[in-house]
Amino acid sequence: MKNILKTKRLILRKLTFDESLFIVQLLNSPGWLKYIGDRGVKTEKDAKLYLQNGPLLSYEKYGFGLYLVGLLETGEPIGMCGLLKRDSLEHPDLGFAFLPEFMGKGYAYEAANAVVVYAREHLRIKTLLAITMPENATSIKLLEKIGMKYSGVVKFPDSKDNLNLYKLELNEVVSNV
Ligand SMILES: CC(C)(COP(=O)(O)OP(=O)(O)OC[C@H]1O[C@@H](n2cnc3c(N)ncnc32)[C@H](O)[C@@H]1OP(=O)(O)O)[C@@H](O)C(=O)NCCC(=O)NCCS
Repeated sequence: MKNILKTKRLILRKLTFDESLFIVQLLNSPGWLKYIGDRGVKTEKDAKLYLQNGPLLSYEKYGFGLYLVGLLETGEPIGMCGLLKRDSLEHPDLGFAFLPEFMGKGYAYEAANAVVVYAREHLRIKTLLAITMPENATSIKLLEKIGMKYSGVVKFPDSKDNLNLYKLELNEVVSNV
């Protein structure tokens, strides 16, 4: 399976149906449920459908998507990080989520930084966005650490909540991976 990116401690690669059980685990972890929402993915079958209609479709349609993040040494899956293209946003946005036991170790930062460099140098994306709930302090901290700037609020038609919008002009990024 082709790796998309390699960092000091991590590999990022395209998700496959082999990760279905990991997807069930991640999408039902407390951080995901609180800050991203319940996607109703409770079984391996649900996870396959999520993968098919989410990341796998995105790879095909846009040439990018959410990637599996694994530990470089063992390959153990620890989270997802990558890019999404939503109809409701003008530019691609950065997404990330990690299992609780792999938070607070700088892994999300390392993966997000690598995706930003990949977006700029490989995909030639000029403007990168991110959305987050205003109370998601760890996510906001990470977005600001990678240089994203608060750019107002957005509201999606299917949600009653306002989300914070962050923006990064990739021409201005200096690589630090
Ligand atoms: C948002 C999320 C990915 C952030 O993960 P994280 O592990 O806190 O983020 P980082 O990788 O930046 O790690 C930061 C912490 O690791 C610590 N750290 C430890 N070793 C480190 C290292 N080698 N390098 C860098 N930081 C390190 C930092 O000091 C920092 O700790 P602090 O917050 O106490 O200052 C995570 O909370 C998550 O998955 N949440 C649920 C899903 C979610 O909300 N996604 C975003 C939706 S918008």
